[in-house]
Amino acid sequence: MLAAVCTKYGPPEVVRIAEVPDPSPGPSEVLIRVHATTVTTADWRVRARAMPAPIFRLLAPLVLGVRGPRTRVLGTECAGVVERVGARVTAFGPGDRVVAVTGIGMGTHAELVCVREDSALTRVPESLPFDQAVAIPFGAMVALRYLRDMAGVKPGQRVLVIGASGAIGVAAVQLAGYLGAHVTGVCGGANVGVVRSLGAAAVLDRSKEDFRAGGPVYDVVLDTVGATSFRECKAVLKPHGQFLAVLMGLTELCQIVWTGLVGGRRVRGAVVSANKADLVLLMRLAEAGHLRPVIDSSFPLRRIVEAHRRVDSGRKVGSVVVTVL
Ligand SMILES: NC(=O)c1ccc[n+]([C@@H]2O[C@H](COP(=O)([O-])OP(=O)(O)OC[C@H]3O[C@@H](n4cnc5c(N)ncnc54)[C@H](OP(=O)(O)O)[C@@H]3O)[C@@H](O)[C@H]2O)c1
Repeated sequence: MLAAVCTKYGPPEVVRIAEVPDPSPGPSEVLIRVHATTVTTADWRVRARAMPAPIFRLLAPLVLGVRGPRTRVLGTECAGVVERVGARVTAFGPGDRVVAVTGIGMGTHAELVCVREDSALTRVPESLPFDQAVAIPFGAMVALRYLRDMAGVKPGQRVLVIGASGAIGVAAVQLAGYLGAHVTGVCGGANVGVVRSLGAAAVLDRSKEDFRAGGPVYDVVLDTVGATSFRECKAVLKPHGQFLAVLMGLTELCQIVWTGLVGGRRVRGAVVSANKADLVLLMRLAEAGHLRPVIDSSFPLRRIVEAHRRVDSGRKVGSVVVTVL
């Protein structure tokens, strides 16, 4: 099969299309013929060994590999058709339309990939094309975990989403709205219309408006891109408000522990891993029209270097999709 292979760290050009052996499903695995995948900020971080904080830079070689990524085929999510299943698989069969998240197991930038039946794998609703289904999980899994599980967002609460036009941001705006919150998004001027179309009650153009100006009005501030800090956001958080840091360094890790001990305004954050139940829920929400995929751009597999370049720009709106079939 063809795959996008990355054997050393570096710029987008280190990724090349190569012929690699077809994977074969184990007894509890499903073999998926990939129709669409994405290049995400996770692929960029692994490919470029671009860690967000010194503490993670130290750990990177241990976790990712010393000279190049341990997993030569990047890609954390795919949508496609089940080609074959292992002997113990009962819930899926050939021909099923599925979406899967492999996370740090990676491997979806390829024509075929094997995933465990009990992993983050579920059917794609008939109404959802593969390129749209695959544009959902990466951002929405993080947004759901942060807003629903960590912050426990409730109807009527006020949520500020900073970085509202990125993959996590577009999902966060919609999921916070779905949870019943009054949502304010912060993004660049060019993306105000997109964020408003996702249901944000208010949208601030970050080049013109300062979200810090409004006083302590927010129950939750979700910073999806590390654009601000707990210190900067304290003034806009209610007395028991929560600052959710998607990007964490040592400072945020200490703040998470400290604010958990002393009470009052809290900092929260975690590394999110995918799970089946959330993926099932996200596909249901998409089918029901509560969660709309936002596709920045789409490239065929042979042009995957361009897809990486677009992600590296830091300017993408939603997801960068790669079509494989
Ligand atoms: N904690 C976890 O488990 C976890 C999981 C996945 C990803 N992450 C991290 O989450 C981060 C965001 O990921 P993503 O995929 O959502 O990013 P993304 O899609 O690349 O975000 C791009 C958007 O960020 C906005 N942006 C850039 N600088 C900004 C600023 N200073 N203020 C406000 N908005 C800004 C830009 O929008 P405008 O031009 O409209 O401002 C751009 O459209 C990544 O760094 C990733 O590593 C963490």
